[in-house]
Amino acid sequence: MPGSKEEYMYWGERAHGHENNYLYIVGPTINQKLKSWLLAQFRDTYQVLELGCGSGNYTRMVANRVKQLTATDLAPEMVEEAQNKLGGYGNVEVQIQDCYNTSFEDNTFDAVLMTNLLHIVKDPVTVMKESHRVIKCDGRAVIVDVTGYKMPFFKKMGMVFRYMRTWHRPPPHGMNPSPGKLATIVKKAGFTVEESKLLGKDTKAVCIRARKVK
Ligand SMILES: C[S@@+](CC[C@H](N)C(=O)[O-])C[C@H]1O[C@@H](n2cnc3c(N)ncnc32)[C@H](O)[C@@H]1O
Repeated sequence: MPGSKEEYMYWGERAHGHENNYLYIVGPTINQKLKSWLLAQFRDTYQVLELGCGSGNYTRMVANRVKQLTATDLAPEMVEEAQNKLGGYGNVEVQIQDCYNTSFEDNTFDAVLMTNLLHIVKDPVTVMKESHRVIKCDGRAVIVDVTGYKMPFFKKMGMVFRYMRTWHRPPPHGMNPSPGKLATIVKKAGFTVEESKLLGKDTKAVCIRARKVK
């Protein structure tokens, strides 16, 4: 199943100023927490694929931790933003790829990174199955998704307000996943979940590390 045009066009229209807008919506505190968690996942990793990299916010965060990073997205406007941001990194290549159906060979990558992707795609299990296909045996999937799940009510309303003010309408297939819901999706695609947790005091994010065991 290819990515729906509606899904990635929505993001293409929001590519300009994406990083600043994202930080305004979620707030800087959760981003710092995510940075610590993500950096710990990528100590000395050789070859990493990122799906749905957007404008490259998290690509830049982990770029110095990995040997080679292939950052991909289906929206050309996002790929252009990411290329501008990441041009100075010799180990990063940015390309257009559909996360449902990439052009990579089986068993290519040591890890696949997905930030804020699974909660906005229509069929996250298929995206995870594609990740499973391209990850080497014993490789990892590293997943982060900001979520309204368990957010204090007024904090959640504040985030919804900032979102609507900035990006005007919610994404076509957005959801607010719990760690359990995302872990179920990841397991359905054949992964073993090694860590699954909810980070953050006000804005929350689900963080999952999963392994391809066979
Ligand atoms: C919520 S944004 C997240 C961007 C970035 N990972 C971040 O956390 O800042 C979701 C991204 O997924 C991309 N996307 C949506 N459908 C896609 C598909 N089928 N294949 C690849 N990327 C897709 C969008 O273009 C968008 O850049």
